[in-house]
Amino acid sequence: MKVIYPGSFDPLTNGHVDIIKRLSSMFDEVIVAILINENKKSLFTVVERKDIIREAIEEEGLENIRIDSFNGLLVNFARENDVKIIARGLRAVTDYEYEKNIARVNSTLYQGLETIFLLSNPTYSFVSSSGVREIAAFKGDVSAFVSPSVEKKIKEKFNY
Ligand code: PNS
Repeated sequence: MKVIYPGSFDPLTNGHVDIIKRLSSMFDEVIVAILINENKKSLFTVVERKDIIREAIEEEGLENIRIDSFNGLLVNFARENDVKIIARGLRAVTDYEYEKNIARVNSTLYQGLETIFLLSNPTYSFVSSSGVREIAAFKGDVSAFVSPSVEKKIKEKFNY
């Protein structure tokens, strides 16, 4: 069975990697799907985000992962790929409030589509891409939140 793990991944954090690893052991194939959002200013381009994820997956030795990107609605991407399961990580109740609406909208748009939630590992429950971007903007230490290869790319981007 296949699962889609969608997100912005700007950038990939240790929390994302943990979820990808867990999904990799549960499903035959995990499609990590990067949302292309032209209206939102991003730190890394979609191509850079893909490279970062590919490197992290290689470091982890995971083989059943495909990295892709999508425009527009997630349900359309799911249909095109013939996948009926979406996975998201849940860190806190606030995530749940946000996620449950998206999951309900998606299952209304695509009958039979299921969204499953993996509880974040407590170690990563406070880690977010937006937090990492903010720390990076002030040239702070991001090493506790991202892999060494992501840290290197952040430092290159912010010249530190
Ligand atoms: O990492 P993020 O930014 O929390 O991921 C959010 C994402 C990409 C899963 C969500 O914004 C999404 O699926 N966007 C695509 C647009 C869509 O399908 N919207 C309908 C549901 S309201």
